[in-house]
Order: sequence, then structure tokens, then C-alpha cells
Amino acid sequence: MACTNASTQRLKNMNTDNRFFDGTQTVIGHGAQADVYSYHGYAYKVYRPTYNPEWIKFEKAQQSVVNATGLCNVRYYDTEDLYTVKMDLIDGETLEKKMREGFAGGFDILAAMFRKVHSAELDGVKIPGLIDTAGFGVSDENRQKILPVIVRLSEKMDSCICHLDLHFLNIMMPFDGSEPVIIDWINARIAPAVFDYARTYVILRECAPEVLGMYEAAVAADMRSLGITDEDFADAVMVSQVIRDREKKD
Ligand SMILES: Nc1ncnc2c1ncn2[C@@H]1O[C@H](COP(=O)(O)OP(=O)(O)O)[C@@H](O)[C@H]1O
Ligand SMILES: [Mg+2]
Repeated sequence: MACTNASTQRLKNMNTDNRFFDGTQTVIGHGAQADVYSYHGYAYKVYRPTYNPEWIKFEKAQQSVVNATGLCNVRYYDTEDLYTVKMDLIDGETLEKKMREGFAGGFDILAAMFRKVHSAELDGVKIPGLIDTAGFGVSDENRQKILPVIVRLSEKMDSCICHLDLHFLNIMMPFDGSEPVIIDWINARIAPAVFDYARTYVILRECAPEVLGMYEAAVAADMRSLGITDEDFADAVMVSQVIRDREKKD
């Protein structure tokens, strides 16, 4: 979800000098770490020069795993520039834009996208476990707070693929009316679904608190059917907030 001051910062950091472009590129999106252009029939994600290239490599690897699951068919291609990734172009708009223009079905689509991701086949899917990465970069104190919660909830519930950044800017609505496309899989991890619901809660609480009630209403029945109690959800929100706070320091 866009946060205003971050968007302003991103605009200032826009890298339009990329050597791949001949001047006909158009900006189609801004993310936290990159600007995205439409250019000669493809989308190009141009990361800020300060972004760690190891994370770009990791995002490409995640995308190829996700391609194999069938959850997203947008392929990533290498370019000669370490900071520029070429992608299949989705001819569409974000669900966020559609909602801003009055579309009322956004929360139902979000809930359906969670169900789709969480019901994907897990066998052989090489995505890291949340337990394996959640402690990176957090203080010892916070690590001791969050890891036991992940263990407790992982023992209580089944794990599945979690997108862990599923919000309205990461769901694209193709203009031809075909199925919504979930993008931006770098955060995906194997974990109980409660962490996916909690992550989105934390993002919305930060960027669009006025819609939190609608979000909770849209996913309540699905969370209940997974056996998620209020306490489980509150614990997962605490974990997600610690991880979110750490990300903001990047
Ligand atoms: N393959 C694509 N086709 C069309 N638009 C895209 C594509 N990938 C990203 N976008 C647009 O760019 C925005 C930012 O891309 P995203 O991959 O989510 O970056 P970030 O990781 O910085 O959030 C998206 O919200 C969307 O508007
Ligand atoms: Mg994104």
C-alpha cells in the first residue's frame, strides 16, 4: 500500500538514465525499492542503486519458484544491468487503482487471493521457511520474542505458501478481464497462513488504517475456518510488526 512520504521519496529517486531505455519508456509503477517501466512490450523493474543486488538475485529465484507453482506466470529475465530486471508485462492496473476509482469488490478479491496462495501445492517448493529468516537483522530481544511465536503457531497449524506482502498494489487486474495476477513475491515464505493475514493487517494499519475494519470482515470467516483464534492473530501481528519495523531500517 502506498504511504505518501515514501512515494514522494521514490519519485525523487527515479532512475530514468538506465541504459536500456531509448526514451519511449513510460513509468507504470513505483514500489518501495524500485520503479517499474513499460518498454517495448515488457515491464522493467529498475532498483535503486543503493539496493543490495543479492536481494535482486533472491527475488528472481523466488519468482522462478513461484512460476513453477502456477501461482504467477510473470517471468523475470536478466538484463546486462544488475539493477534492472525485465519482466513479462501485465496489461492491466493495480487493484488499488481500481478501488480508488470506485470498484467495490477489492476486499473479496484480496480474500480470494489469500485462499488461492494458501491452497497451492507445497511439495518440492523451494521457498524459505519464515522461521529460517524472521530473525535476520532483529535485536536479540525481539528474536526471543518472535521465534517462539512462529514455533508455537507452526506446531498448531499447517504451513503453506505465504506471500507476506499481499495488498492492493501487489494485485494486478488485467484489462482483458482475466484472473487477477499476484506480483512481488520476494517476501514469500513457508509458514502458517495466519502470518499472511497478519502481515497484510500490519501494512494496512500503517498505510490505510481506515480500511482495517473492512479487511478484518473480509478475512474473518477464512481465518476462523483455519482455527486461528484472536490470540493467535494478535501474536502473529506482533511478529509481523517486528519484521516490518526491521524492514523500514533497510
Ligand atoms: N509485470 C508487471 N507488469 C505491469 N506492471 C507491473 C509489473 N510489475 C510491477 N508492476 C507495477 O509496478 C508496481 C511496483 O512493482 P513491485 O514489483 O510490486 O515493486 P516493489 O517490490 O518495489 O513493491 C506495481 O504495484 C505495479 O503497479
Ligand atoms: Mg510491490
